[in-house]
Amino acid sequence: FGSVATQIQRNPSFSTLNSDDVDHFKKILGEKNVIQDEDRLLTANVDWMGKYKGSSKLLLQPRSTEEVSQILKYCNTRCLAVVPQGGNTGLVGGSVPVFDEVIINVGSMNHIISFDEVSGILVCEAGCILENLDSFLVNHGFMMPLDLGAKGSCQIGGNVSTNAGGLHFVRYGSLHGNVLGLEAVLANGTVLDMLGTLRKDNTGYDLKQLFIGSEGSLGIATKVSILTSPKPSSKNLAFLACKDYLSCQKLLQEAKRKLGEILSAFEFLDSQSMELVLTHLEGVRNPLPPSIYEFYVLIETRGTDESYDKEKLEAFLLRSMEGGLIADGVVAQDINQASSFWRIREGLSEALVKAGAVYKYDLSLPIEKMYSIVEEMRLRLGQSEKVLGYGHLGDGNLHLNISRPNYDDSVLAKIEPFVYEWTSKHRGSISAEHGLGLMKANEIHYSKSPQTVQVMASIKKLLDPNGILNPYKVLPHNILYPEA
Ligand code: FAD
Ligand code: MLT
Ligand code: ZN
Repeated sequence: FGSVATQIQRNPSFSTLNSDDVDHFKKILGEKNVIQDEDRLLTANVDWMGKYKGSSKLLLQPRSTEEVSQILKYCNTRCLAVVPQGGNTGLVGGSVPVFDEVIINVGSMNHIISFDEVSGILVCEAGCILENLDSFLVNHGFMMPLDLGAKGSCQIGGNVSTNAGGLHFVRYGSLHGNVLGLEAVLANGTVLDMLGTLRKDNTGYDLKQLFIGSEGSLGIATKVSILTSPKPSSKNLAFLACKDYLSCQKLLQEAKRKLGEILSAFEFLDSQSMELVLTHLEGVRNPLPPSIYEFYVLIETRGTDESYDKEKLEAFLLRSMEGGLIADGVVAQDINQASSFWRIREGLSEALVKAGAVYKYDLSLPIEKMYSIVEEMRLRLGQSEKVLGYGHLGDGNLHLNISRPNYDDSVLAKIEPFVYEWTSKHRGSISAEHGLGLMKANEIHYSKSPQTVQVMASIKKLLDPNGILNPYKVLPHNILYPEA
């Protein structure tokens, strides 16, 4: 495991779980939703990367908002710390306990409450899995406004709590815009009904925004109202190679101009990322001649007119090829080929985990500067380390990953704080979309001013005075626990 958690002391003001607590939870939830089984706890205690590990003795699975409310009210009175967990696909150690926090998973709250075909507004419980929501919507001719590699396991409550970005952000935008309403339960059990279904509502402070991206530190999301989009009937995907990063940038600029309203994804990976995927994922193949190109770009279009969209994309690709921005490329001929192209890009996280240890950074940077950090990191770490760059180029979001067989503190010391200082110097963000979790709680100051962090801490104190909700995450230790 990584070494992050070992530097933290358990907050002594939290109680330790006893048998009376367990009996009480059984009264609220029934025996079978109070999990003490070792195997199931083992899974729930470890994050998706196998990097962060807690030692919780209890997993609770509420089936209603009322049950969530009763659990939290009890935990707050007893000062029992909790960690809200969704699909446990988070990449910053936010979804697993650090010590013995009680795990609360709303996965059984997975019902669709309503769908309005006129407005496209979907209301559902927070435990719904993203892919299931998308499958439900397809039957109505709609789609979710977000898509990510973890769609098969992540829950909409987890997506909202991390303000997940994903592959279609460039077209459909942030959950801060698409989430229209939220129901959340506060630490003391109060149910906050903010479950509006209106596009426009300027009646005072928009409190739901606080919960979007708060990573379970302010409340547990129980219901979500979200704006979905009509599913476009025509989809195209091009897998392209570029000779250098400047060409990728220019290609993006051109794509925004020339593809305009039909552009739905603009993703990139470098040759080191390609090599890693090919090495570690079975059945993945580079559709272009191997080992020649430095950068690969995926451009997706979604529209309503198949022949118009195809013509538009082909004309754009032809011009870009003639202009030297594209070195080579192929357009997917069917759905299977399109998913094999996406597999290369979406499979990167899995390939990194298969390759061993990974130091993962998720940076927002000015696009023209974005790849320089990868190059500088390579120089800094030397030839023996694998430094990968990929991500959501269209959004200025780089995923910088250092892949190695095992974790090594001397390598980590060369990466951090350098990577954060560099990002801060270029006025970037140290978390574009993954959140801060445990990994970056103490690093928030690289992207937020001291005054801003203080206001965040005051909000945390107001909504969760005992600090029981997802402790040790998001906010720095010295601010959360000044007496420690
Ligand atoms: P979890 O991992 O279980 O939890 C994440 C955080 O949210 C934790 O802090 C947890 O306490 C909190 N939380 C979960 N549920 C609730 C709730 N109901 N109420 C309050 N707090 C809650 N992220 C992106 O942004 N873009 C991507 O493209 C992307 N791609 C990914 C691809 C792969 C293969 C993987 C493994 C991860 C990817 N991620 C991506 C990261 C991750 O999937 C997202 O952050 C996702 O939104 C997390 O959802 P989850 O249900 O798994 O939440
Ligand atoms: C992605 O874009 O692939 C995800 O954010 C996951 C990752 O960074 O590995
Ligand atoms: Zn991403």
